[in-house]
Amino acid sequence: MQTLHHIQALREQLNAARRAGKTIGLVPTMGNLHAGHIELVNQARLHADIIVATIFVNPLQFGPNEDLDNYPRTLEADQTKLAAAGCDYLFTPSEAEIYPNGRDHQTIVEVIDLSDMHCGSTRPGHFRGVTTVVSKLFGIVQPDSAFFGCKDYQQLLIIRRMVADLCMPIDIHGVNIVRDNEALALSSRNGYLSPAELAVAPTLNQVLRETAQAIQAGQRDYAQLATQALQKLEEVGFKGDFMRIVRRSDLQPANATDTQLVILSAAYLGAARLIDNLELDL
Ligand code: PAJ
Repeated sequence: MQTLHHIQALREQLNAARRAGKTIGLVPTMGNLHAGHIELVNQARLHADIIVATIFVNPLQFGPNEDLDNYPRTLEADQTKLAAAGCDYLFTPSEAEIYPNGRDHQTIVEVIDLSDMHCGSTRPGHFRGVTTVVSKLFGIVQPDSAFFGCKDYQQLLIIRRMVADLCMPIDIHGVNIVRDNEALALSSRNGYLSPAELAVAPTLNQVLRETAQAIQAGQRDYAQLATQALQKLEEVGFKGDFMRIVRRSDLQPANATDTQLVILSAAYLGAARLIDNLELDL
């Protein structure tokens, strides 16, 4: 695997691959890679000839009081994992390479309505930062396909919408959530948890599954179910951010006749903000 830091060098390599008729799959990340990220690479290998992973901790998607400075940076370990997974290129640019005009960055890409709800209302500007950097990465790499985790459910939907609205010729693949043995969704932010918090963290997924069971059993008062779910989380030490039962198509509150649902959740545990979700069909 080659590690490249500059757009020009990456483009030269990829142009040559493209001329040789190879397809390109992109896996964008912020690094500190775990088995969830590696699963994206595994899926990419099934769909593309050449795999490009990117590691860039994108300042534009972090709020002023978020963990930009403390975000774990583990380049060497990440390189080893990517190479072992069969990744061909790692593109890990500096901030100046991606934002050459620094704070005077004049162009943003924003998927308007979807970016304001749920995680977007807790983290104003977050998804605008994500879509701006991902559209830049799409422009730099020009992949045939790109791979995103279903763990960041809203992010995946927003990227799909951006690609559709801007007629980008890229197949977006959603990859199933990779979990540990206790069903905790793997996340770089799990590293912020103390051993005691780690023991409690799987409750987030457990509460999602209990809520889904109640819905499958016929309960349809979604607002009440969500309130109860948040109460269960608070009882074990979480500070709830939100729990919502929404339609998969547009993430608007589900009503009793909707059949394709997803339960979206976010909750703080100590210093970490954890997210998880569960799709269900009625
Ligand atoms: P990051 O949090 O590093 O995640 C990179 C990708 O890995 C995302 O598509 C995310 O959904 C996926 N992922 C994370 N944990 C996962 C898990 N347990 N199972 C499956 N997939 C998982 O998401 C970002 O970075 C950034 O917003 C980015 C898209 C790179 C733009 O900066």
